[in-house]
Amino acid sequence: MCGIVAYIGQREAYPILIKGLQRLEYRGYDSAGVALLNGGMHIYKRQGKVSDLIAYTEGKDKTGQVGIGHTRWATHGQPNHINAHPHCSGNGHLNLVHNGIIENYSLLKKALEKLGHTFESETDTEVLVHLIEELQSRDSLTLEEAVRVALSRVIGAYAIVVIDEREPGKLVAARKGSPLVLGIGDDEFLVASDATPIIEHTKRVVYLNDEEIAVLSKDGYMQIKTIGNEVQTPYIQELTLEIERLEKGGYDHFMLKEIHEQTTTIADCMRGRLNATEGWIRLGGVEEFQNRFMKAERMIIIGCGTSWHAGLVAEYLFEDLARIPVEVEYASEFRYRNPIIRESDVIIALSQSGETADTLAAIELAREKGALVYGVVNVVGSSISRLTDAGSYIHAGPEIGVASTKAFTGQVTLLTMMALQLAHSRGTISESYYQRLLTELENIPHKVARVLECEPQIQYIAQEIQDSHNALYLGRGFNFPVALEGALKLKEISYIHAEGYPAAEMKHGPIALIDENMPVIVTATNRNAYDKIVSNIQEVKARKGKVIAIVSEGEKAISEMADYTIEIPETEDPLAPLLSVIPLQLLSYYIAVGRGCNVDQPRNLAKSVTVE
Ligand code: F6R
Repeated sequence: MCGIVAYIGQREAYPILIKGLQRLEYRGYDSAGVALLNGGMHIYKRQGKVSDLIAYTEGKDKTGQVGIGHTRWATHGQPNHINAHPHCSGNGHLNLVHNGIIENYSLLKKALEKLGHTFESETDTEVLVHLIEELQSRDSLTLEEAVRVALSRVIGAYAIVVIDEREPGKLVAARKGSPLVLGIGDDEFLVASDATPIIEHTKRVVYLNDEEIAVLSKDGYMQIKTIGNEVQTPYIQELTLEIERLEKGGYDHFMLKEIHEQTTTIADCMRGRLNATEGWIRLGGVEEFQNRFMKAERMIIIGCGTSWHAGLVAEYLFEDLARIPVEVEYASEFRYRNPIIRESDVIIALSQSGETADTLAAIELAREKGALVYGVVNVVGSSISRLTDAGSYIHAGPEIGVASTKAFTGQVTLLTMMALQLAHSRGTISESYYQRLLTELENIPHKVARVLECEPQIQYIAQEIQDSHNALYLGRGFNFPVALEGALKLKEISYIHAEGYPAAEMKHGPIALIDENMPVIVTATNRNAYDKIVSNIQEVKARKGKVIAIVSEGEKAISEMADYTIEIPETEDPLAPLLSVIPLQLLSYYIAVGRGCNVDQPRNLAKSVTVE
């Protein structure tokens, strides 16, 4: 949430900042702004997208080799240009960009007001920059010292970058709870919320740790200290990300590209970890903590949104295959409900971004109680990947469309491998079933390619139902979480109200909603409980509901009843979500496009939810 980018070096900062902000726009697009140092300070900010900022700065002085930029997802105060970042100190010398929330800002604000400070915006950020100013002038502190002292008074989460026109050759950056990456180039530094604005300039990066402050100078000097004033030795890492993966590659939207990428991302997730011919699955982190996994009396899976849905699929997988009891929790509920966590529990934290604030807080809680915390994360080097005891990356590559697609199938693939590895070690499935599932899993990317062949048909169905006001998604067993995920995809990008339900549960309430205007999307690939789902569809048809059924190739009974049928290749039930979710992703995508919605940047959403 909110994207930060900063530059200091020998080149013009503005184009670097703007390109960086465009890469970070998935983190928020309520407003955007830059501050450039060139003798004095030039500050430009605008409500709306980075493109609005570009239009606004047309013909204005954008020179300067030091600058900071921000794209905002509003927390405190409306998304207008007064609340847009950067925020300026009262004396006009300092400018600051911030991602996170200063929880004690109103107390600090009152204290500063008593000292004569006045504020223009409603933001917590403006309070922080005034506090730094106050400390500088009251105690004659350098910028770096004033930032350090100010941050020791702040409660909450922050990633910040500050510049001071009186110390023009310097950037000061700091983080706690919100991510910040430093890029080290030749005689230049970049700072950003993630590596995407940095990658085209340098591959050498330092991930700043919580409560660390970096001072970066125009002459190539870098120092990192803790808020407690201890000098740290930076750990410089080499990025492996390729720039092409950040482009749309000929697709109209990132979301469509990412849906199509699933043929390769699922294969990438399995690469080097599964060999069906030789009959093995090896996840390094699971092997390392084999003992803890074998003795686990319970698994608790935590996540938010789509990641939570992947966790629900894993509940079916771990219980069915490995016979381990599983609880799946929303991270935001788990952290605040005084949960019972035992040392014998294994906690699996699921997150695409690796930065979700609620998931991070839940992990901290679980670690305090002595449980093993295993992260399943996409973004390499993210906060969750560094906070967990062990983990596996899903290797889906950058997911830029705000609606998660390939990360979901990456998470499910990884969790399927994990369940199979544990089931095999624990002897809870037969050798022949294990081998069958391995072979089938290895073959899933080919089947995904065949599912994608349904795209024109899905496009047609999307046109037929795109004007609906509501939609109901149904599924049973492994396909129940898929129904939830389908409904979430539709809601977030097309703004159509949608609900996901277990098919049999429909008659306990939602059936009252069904009439000829209600599309009911039923994921019915199950071999298990097939007859039951046929009956559920009959119940919908009896109320004139419009049925869109996703079935396995060659299926007859449902196809005859449904208004529209999408056939996908048959697979084993535990692997069904990897195929059945894809038509639902495409359906949401084409409905949203048909309704003229901004698919990659839906209103009010941000990709990385770094606030509670
Ligand atoms: C939905 C979506 C969100 C995220 C959720 C968790 O398409 O993208 O619901 O799944 O915000 O994010 P991560 O997985 O980054 O922790």
